[in-house]
Amino acid sequence: MKVLFATSEIAPWVKTGGLGDVAAALPPALRRNGIDVRVLVPRYPALRQAFPDDKAPVVAKLGDFGAGFAASVLRQATAPDGTPLLLLDCPAYFDRSGNPYLGPEGRDWLDNHLRFGLLSRVAAWLGSDASDLPWQPQVVHCNDWQTGLAPAYLALLPGARARSLLTIHNLAFQGLFGAQTLAELGLPATAWSMHGVEYYGYLSFLKAGLHYADAITTVSPSYAAEIQTDAEGMGMAGLLRDRADRLSGILNGIDTVAWNPVRDPHLPHAYDADHLPEKRKNKAALQAEVGLKVRDDVPLLGVVSRLTHQKGLDLLPAVAPQIAALPAQLVVLGSGEKALEAEFRELAELHPGQFAVRIGFDEGLAHRIEAGADVFLMPSRFEPCGLNQMYSLRYGTPPVVRATGGLADTVIDGVNGFVFKDATAEALLAAIERAAAAWRNKKVWRAIQADGMRRDVGWAEPALEYAALYEKLAQ
Ligand code: ADP
Ligand code: GLC
Repeated sequence: MKVLFATSEIAPWVKTGGLGDVAAALPPALRRNGIDVRVLVPRYPALRQAFPDDKAPVVAKLGDFGAGFAASVLRQATAPDGTPLLLLDCPAYFDRSGNPYLGPEGRDWLDNHLRFGLLSRVAAWLGSDASDLPWQPQVVHCNDWQTGLAPAYLALLPGARARSLLTIHNLAFQGLFGAQTLAELGLPATAWSMHGVEYYGYLSFLKAGLHYADAITTVSPSYAAEIQTDAEGMGMAGLLRDRADRLSGILNGIDTVAWNPVRDPHLPHAYDADHLPEKRKNKAALQAEVGLKVRDDVPLLGVVSRLTHQKGLDLLPAVAPQIAALPAQLVVLGSGEKALEAEFRELAELHPGQFAVRIGFDEGLAHRIEAGADVFLMPSRFEPCGLNQMYSLRYGTPPVVRATGGLADTVIDGVNGFVFKDATAEALLAAIERAAAAWRNKKVWRAIQADGMRRDVGWAEPALEYAALYEKLAQ
């Protein structure tokens, strides 16, 4: 089975969230199941640096595809774990540092439709007769809106050979562009229809993918059900209900090598379920690192997150006085909405030594918070899967989560974490209070930690589910 995995992010080089982690860990897990998967990703500066020209030979020269695209070449390289990479080298589009989607002002790049249109177009080209590469995929596995046009190109242009699968990591990002982009992207005028790429007067990459893909998955069974309801379908529920027979949920795994408290280069002290006192040393080190009072008689709550409406962290400041009075400590690492960043900064100033906030993206500190905190907070309004709650299960840091999407599928109240229903500050506080009370009972706490640490959250099982789906598609 040959599969092209098309993605706009891949850890550790380019990551804004969970998609980067999935793109780094799922392909090698598939390869362990005998699937010949190659990853197509833009050659951003970090990938240019990791794979300079002499380590990434050109395997194909690509023209403008008869559309408004800049010329590009395809290079081949091998990731350190052995995964073959196809790097889409188009300096005009991708040789820009920083966030892959946003310019320095924090706004979308104006040519994002061309940048990710080209990525989608090349994915489709690789799965079509037009490609003269010896390696030809049977399935093109697309991820989110950035590669959402690939199923459309495969369906609309002549010569398609591969079947297409689109995985929804987040329905909130829909890749919406003006109607004039249709021609620039080389799409036929007939595609401009409700039964095509058009979405309320816009061209939507995601809608196009959902309409044309041979199969659709999302990253947890609960989210697969939720997005078919008008309340949570973000305007796509009707289309998803129409395609329900092609839609399924496959729960994400986590990279159990990168996220393993026994061998985590970011941690000062290694530990496992049988050596939990070492975890306490990580707590002390974390407290010192972020400027909290070093003490072990209060629970330390941890957050690592994008600071956006999705993540529900705006509920936290409202109950900060109650959290301070518990008493508990809080450490927040994140970036996103400026107003929320400012609110957390103020909280830290108001409660020095008790609340600490780091605004930014810091992989090492993310690991140290997973290890050093006692309780992990994830009050998401919606959560397609969520990886951090699984990292925290593995690190013996029981999560407090809202019952939604992948959080509901991975956290069991009172067994390995704490679950609350309503997206309100009161409900969040009540769950935090329950967690803090359980933390004070050593025996109860050990049992909750042990359950999470034992759980199999790796990619082996999900990889088998994807493999079965590829087989079904290629038949
Ligand atoms: P999402 O993809 O919606 O942001 P996930 O839980 O699936 O949520 O994945 C988020 C990933 O990004 C995790 O690996 C998490 O550790 C990481 N992450 C988020 N914010 C930060 C940050 N500020 N610093 C370091 N890592 C972060
Ligand atoms: C998205 C979702 C997150 C999911 C991740 C990887 O960013 O918000 O819930 O875990 O993709 O699939």
